[in-house]
Amino acid sequence: RMNRHSGAGDMGSPLKHFTNAKKKINVLFSDIQTYIEEFGEFIDDIGNSDENIIIEEELEDDVLAALEKINGIKDMLTRNHMKVVFFGRTSNGKSSVVNAMLWDRILPTGIGHTTNCFLSVAGCSDEGAYLLCNGSEEKRSIKSVTQLSHALSEESMSPDSLIQVFWPKSKCALLKDDVVLVDSPGIDVSHDLDQWIDKYCLDADVFILVANAESTLMQAEKKFFHRVNEKLSKPNIFILNNRWDASASEPELMEQVRQQHLERGISFLADELKVISKSQAKDRVFFVSAKETLQSRMPKVPGKADSPVYMADGHQVRLMEFARFEREFEECISRSATRTKFEYHTQRASKIIDQLHSKAEWLYTKATELMNECRDRRVFLLQRLEYIDNQMKLVTQRSKDGIVALANEAERQVRVAMSDEIRRL
Ligand code: GTP
Ligand code: MG
Repeated sequence: RMNRHSGAGDMGSPLKHFTNAKKKINVLFSDIQTYIEEFGEFIDDIGNSDENIIIEEELEDDVLAALEKINGIKDMLTRNHMKVVFFGRTSNGKSSVVNAMLWDRILPTGIGHTTNCFLSVAGCSDEGAYLLCNGSEEKRSIKSVTQLSHALSEESMSPDSLIQVFWPKSKCALLKDDVVLVDSPGIDVSHDLDQWIDKYCLDADVFILVANAESTLMQAEKKFFHRVNEKLSKPNIFILNNRWDASASEPELMEQVRQQHLERGISFLADELKVISKSQAKDRVFFVSAKETLQSRMPKVPGKADSPVYMADGHQVRLMEFARFEREFEECISRSATRTKFEYHTQRASKIIDQLHSKAEWLYTKATELMNECRDRRVFLLQRLEYIDNQMKLVTQRSKDGIVALANEAERQVRVAMSDEIRRL
């Protein structure tokens, strides 16, 4: 029994690629945030000083705006997750597939039209599961799977509304690794599929078409994916031919039916939608039984003996095929989400940093220019000072000489006058 449900042994999960990238990118953005904050403080310090001749208010505003943008991106990144949406006709087993992947009967399943609005399942902390209905902030706590089932069936919602289920991460490896699963009402119950796509599909990383292996791909299902393909470039689509346990009752036809479904599935993805090559499409079409898989994965009730469950012939092969599907799915969603969800944001951040960098460079050049100007002026002033000093010395000397000459002349004149006087006497 391969139990990834407890989270044990999931070290090698491809999903880790996304969660590790997310951790690294968050650290990176925290660093960027610190650098910009430091730059902002530096500019503020200079800007607020009396001698400021370089920092203009506009630069301070630009730095603030950059910081806000980076914070916004950082916020978005922490909320980023991998999203998978399930579509298909009523009763094909969409909710059963989601449950099998979550290793528990979390969403209600049943004969007839069961799921009546969009249901998302995301991870939350261990404090307890809760529901959010249609954008409301009011958390409604849920104690058990049975209670959840009741709560969900009590809600009367329009087909395009959303109930968000938050389920403890510790209970399921997929949720721990940031995968959000979105279940939908049967594709045949709504005419407004475009609105569904706009509301729930534009940020989806992977689409899973849950088909019924007992019939063939329906026009309604194909039409929906054609619309998805028009709105999104090359969506990642998997086709699950569910209810494959039914084939056990007709073993002589099984291989033939499988081949037929496989060819049609490959042709739909590769020739009609052209989202993937024919050889790659082989790994996108699977034959499974969600019902059997869920039955084999349900947590054992403590103290209660396992009730014998009837499993049709070949169920081991179908369980393995379900696990093979999950492996391919995990690789695909992790690769795709890492690329699309981080690439766009890192490109935006890189632009913001480039702009700031050129501003810092301008500041540096301007400061160097100012410094050189100051130095030249200082040299000029020093030279002038020296010149004036010399002039002063010269003048002093001259005036000293002048005074002596004057004194001498005066003395001479006095003498002349005195000798004239003496002579007259
Ligand atoms: P809606 O929500 O009504 O659109 O249906 P759904 O696509 O979610 O189907 P759901 O999972 O509710 O399954 C419908 C019925 O088919 C339930 O009774 C399931 O137990 C049964 N079912 C689901 N998967 C399988 C399967 O692989 N094999 C068999 N035999 N029955 C299945
Ligand atoms: Mg359902």
